[in-house]
Amino acid sequence: MNLVVVSNRVARGAANEPMTGGLAAALLPVVEKSGAIWVGSSGRVRDGAQKEPFAEIEALGAGALAMLDLPAAHYGGYYEGFANSALWPALHSRTDLIRASQEDYLSYREVNAFMARALLRFQKPDTAFWIQDYHFLALGSELRDRGVTQPIGFFLHTPWPAHSTIEGVPHHRELVEAMLAYDLIGFQTRDDCENFLDYISSDLALEIDDGVITSRHGTTRAAVFPIGIDAEKFALQAAKAMSHPDVSRLRRSLNGEKLAIGVDRLDYSKGLVNRIKAFDQMWSLHPALARTVSLLQIATPSRGAIEAYGNLQSELAKLVSDVNGRHGEVDWTPIRYLNKGFSQTVLSGLYRTAQVGVVTPLHDGMNLVAKEYVAAQNPADPGVLVLSKFAGAANELDTALLVNPHDIDGMARTIATALYMPLTERRMRWEAMMAKLSAGSIQRWFADFVDALQETHADKTATEMP
Ligand code: F6P
Repeated sequence: MNLVVVSNRVARGAANEPMTGGLAAALLPVVEKSGAIWVGSSGRVRDGAQKEPFAEIEALGAGALAMLDLPAAHYGGYYEGFANSALWPALHSRTDLIRASQEDYLSYREVNAFMARALLRFQKPDTAFWIQDYHFLALGSELRDRGVTQPIGFFLHTPWPAHSTIEGVPHHRELVEAMLAYDLIGFQTRDDCENFLDYISSDLALEIDDGVITSRHGTTRAAVFPIGIDAEKFALQAAKAMSHPDVSRLRRSLNGEKLAIGVDRLDYSKGLVNRIKAFDQMWSLHPALARTVSLLQIATPSRGAIEAYGNLQSELAKLVSDVNGRHGEVDWTPIRYLNKGFSQTVLSGLYRTAQVGVVTPLHDGMNLVAKEYVAAQNPADPGVLVLSKFAGAANELDTALLVNPHDIDGMARTIATALYMPLTERRMRWEAMMAKLSAGSIQRWFADFVDALQETHADKTATEMP
């Protein structure tokens, strides 16, 4: 089989380059090994009508990486517009933040059509296409319109919310109907998959039998494939990273003080405001914890051209400065707040240095930072993960300290509990999480999806043959 993987963002970097996108960083090692062709945006745009989409192609492991310049006239409406100002807020249950014009929607559809045209050059008789994420909901249908009969799968990295929330997206029916051109649609959690099927029956009134939807496109299977990480590799990397200059400097600066760490894209779905408020509350309720624990919060700037992101950046800067002003001392800064990206290598060492990992999104498809924090720990003296119950990762990492990110007092108490947790309990919780990570690796996720795609397509072809 000749696999073509498609995502908006692609990773061309190695472990020592800064990464902002969880998806791209997670996919890189498995795609590299699989020999697939990975197609995505180059991050550049190109003017004028292009007959033949321009792609820069380079070797990637046993396969190739093809980076396309997207059409300049439609890029803003597609990326900042419909994908990240209509779909992203809705998928994360923030319908109040939906801002999208008809023009944005048309640009989104144009870019999906453009990508379909570009993919045709990679099509062979034994090709299977695997499309990633909400940027390309309609890509499968665009490919089918161009005569592609090979397997096409789709995986959604974000949550899929309740049907009434999806109804807040302009053109939601048209888009979900287009998604049914896929043979297989994968979700991170059972809830996401059930919400999707619920939309299909309530809004599209289509028949569903054991996760298989029948529509004018034929049949589509919806199923759950929780994404994982290569925990063993990440653990080795973290142990090695302890001697990295950035990590050594951090350790020296702590002077025996404990450290909590948060690493997120600067995004309203990540619950950063509530998290900072929880630390504020913790230092107020437990003055003994002032000077004994600080928070290192890395908030990598993201989608800065969108108003909601700019507003959040200002709100956070002010909040962090208030909290530091209130609790800080001449020789102690409670929150070390950094607006930049770090390489996977440095991050792994930072995770291992911190006694508490704080991952408290309001909504998150999976959240790979939670998994990476666990994998990076020293087995002899592991740290504690404080994890939002609204992150997909909470389904597997159920021996983390699970919190409700809307309950600021509750989070403050739980972070304090994490800081005082005895070694035996830390070990027990960590070992249970590590076992889950090893069983649900990214290699497993990749292979399971690709196998299921081939099987689903083969069954479908057999039953639909006259
Ligand atoms: O979670 C969805 C997602 O597409 C991730 O896969 C990725 O980490 C993130 O959003 C990246 O966002 P962007 O490409 O807009 O920086």
